[in-house]
Amino acid sequence: RPFQVAIDGPAASGKSTTAKMVAQRLGFDYIDTGAFYRCVTLAALSKGIDPSNQSQASQISNLAQSSHIGLKTVFSTSPSSLPTTRVFLDKKDVSSEIRTGTVSKHVSAVAAIGPVREAVLQKVRDMGATSASQEGNSGRAGLVMDGRDIGTVVLPNADLKIFLVADSRVRAERRLQELAKSGSKEEGLDVETVQKDLERRDELDRTRKASPLRKADDAVELDTSHLTIEGQVDAIVQEVHR
Ligand code: C5P
Repeated sequence: RPFQVAIDGPAASGKSTTAKMVAQRLGFDYIDTGAFYRCVTLAALSKGIDPSNQSQASQISNLAQSSHIGLKTVFSTSPSSLPTTRVFLDKKDVSSEIRTGTVSKHVSAVAAIGPVREAVLQKVRDMGATSASQEGNSGRAGLVMDGRDIGTVVLPNADLKIFLVADSRVRAERRLQELAKSGSKEEGLDVETVQKDLERRDELDRTRKASPLRKADDAVELDTSHLTIEGQVDAIVQEVHR
């Protein structure tokens, strides 16, 4: 089977950037599982459903089952440039829409609904099974997946599990820079607000009943507070080659 790399960690710990670059370096496929929960959240909000209202859980679960979610990652031939992932919800490109503050605010409540997780798990596994069958430029087929429960639930037998951590202030600063760069920073958004939102989301992710955020026992913990993206990527690629 393809080589599997599972990358988990709290919000804005650099998972997706790191995972994408690791995939690019090794010629592996990449799956962003957070995008699935964001799509379900967007689908619910677009239908006027309030995700914080517990009585809407079954409606949201139905949406999670019926929505078609697609990912397309474009890799670059230069190993240092950042690959881009486009996200499609029912064939519509929602790549920017799923990163807005409104979706980020509600996504953890949606991801805490058990049947939503089951629906997403099925979709993510199907995508993993079809997308990782091609051989990468490293001469072997592989898959990098990032999220909160990859090492614990989605790919429990992954060949390498990484748990990324970083100080919440550092994570907030990085997230703000990223939003500014992509032009999606909302007016007046400051580092304290972003930090609070990340901490609140982590708390929800850690304390929920359905597959909470936690480090798998056999995961390698990597603190990225003082690492550059290149440093993080190098460290993981070295682990793959070990
Ligand atoms: O990674 P990202 O910040 O896009 O994920 C958005 C949210 O989706 C997380 O805050 C978490 O609540 C949820 N999530 C999850 N399990 C995953 C990936 C994301 O619960 N595997």
